[in-house]
Amino acid sequence: MRIMRIGTPLSPSATRVMLLGAGELGKEVVIAFQRLGVEVVAVDRYADAPGHQVAHRSHTIDMTDPTALTAVIELERPDFVVPEIEAIATDALADVEQRELATVIPTARATRLTMNREGIRRLAAEELGLRTSPYEFADSLDEVRAATERIGFPCVIKPVMSSSGKGQSTLRSSDDVDAAWEYARSGGRVDSGRVIVEGFVEFDFEITQLTVRAVGRSGEVETVFCPAIGHLQERGDYVESWQPQSMTPSALDAARDIAHRITTALGGRGVFGVELFVSGDTVYFSEVSPRPHDTGLVTLRTQRLSEFELHARAILGLPVDTSILSPGASAVIYGGVDATGVSFDGVADALSVPQTDIRLFGKPESFTRRRMGVAVATGDDVDEARSRARDAASRVRVIHD
Ligand SMILES: Nc1ncnc2c1ncn2[C@@H]1O[C@H](COP(=O)(O)OP(=O)(O)O)[C@@H](O)[C@H]1O
Ligand SMILES: [Mg+2]
Repeated sequence: MRIMRIGTPLSPSATRVMLLGAGELGKEVVIAFQRLGVEVVAVDRYADAPGHQVAHRSHTIDMTDPTALTAVIELERPDFVVPEIEAIATDALADVEQRELATVIPTARATRLTMNREGIRRLAAEELGLRTSPYEFADSLDEVRAATERIGFPCVIKPVMSSSGKGQSTLRSSDDVDAAWEYARSGGRVDSGRVIVEGFVEFDFEITQLTVRAVGRSGEVETVFCPAIGHLQERGDYVESWQPQSMTPSALDAARDIAHRITTALGGRGVFGVELFVSGDTVYFSEVSPRPHDTGLVTLRTQRLSEFELHARAILGLPVDTSILSPGASAVIYGGVDATGVSFDGVADALSVPQTDIRLFGKPESFTRRRMGVAVATGDDVDEARSRARDAASRVRVIHD
């Protein structure tokens, strides 16, 4: 399906999009839609979220509540519902899709499968036969213990419903099992208690393979790839990313083959962040977000169209261009304090680093480990860009009185 027309915002002809989740990634998606003259409604669980501040209208609801979610969609009647986070009542989205109330991006099924590690892992490994770490699911301490004995150490335990490394730990020996189980129970989004036990993959590096499903010249949905993004994770949360990650031709081929197969299986249109571990020429599938990826913030400065602009275009049925203009990098600016209404000092100093830009997300509340902004930089090569981005990020200080 190609959307041939874009209407006028705030008029009966408007092309209307609703973002479910309005954090820093949602904010950039909202801005990309705004630039195309689309009417945007941003929804989040707290008021004045980053995306709320740039949308035409905003709503604050519990998006895991199917009744509240359905009500806001029925009220706003968007053409497209665009999830930005995992924690959403996906059954309500399936219902919206079924009733043809709106197009769910990429599809209601994709949002359901990817919100739970079990759904996506079984699809990838058991249905598609993609290479992954060895894994087992467990619901109790005894089951976890038995699973770790079979899988061996080191291994990783994660709640099946969690993101940004919450509740996740790496176990070195059987002495770590009790603490890991307790930690997983406290960090899950819903306390089902179910966890995945994964064998630890000793990768050389990990990448996000941004993959776009967009209408091509043929009028059919085609799959296109962005240059690979390398990244560094600390405690399961991304701290730095860069593009392009250099890879052997066979690893790159394998990465794209995996990305193509998993995104085809999920279907629909939009950007997907396919997370892969690379060890020599061997590539492991880890997980996939059916939406722009945090490590892809680097594309704000590296690509002709950022991942957010690519997402907006793909959703609207418009042509995309995934070419890179310059090597670049991003470095996260953390809150460092627990406080509301903070100020950012050192911004001028940060921006005096050559070829550097920053984004401050405007979050009303700072936490020590909350991502409050990001520095993005370009350079002659990735190394130069990485040191510029790190340098700029380190010059920004979060102040509160
Ligand atoms: N099986 C594994 N082997 C090695 N590292 C892992 C494994 N699983 C996760 N990690 C590390 O932890 C990070 C976060 O894990 P991930 O499964 O992506 O969780 P989240 O959904 O919270 O992003 C990964 O990017 C990787 O650096
Ligand atoms: Mg991840």
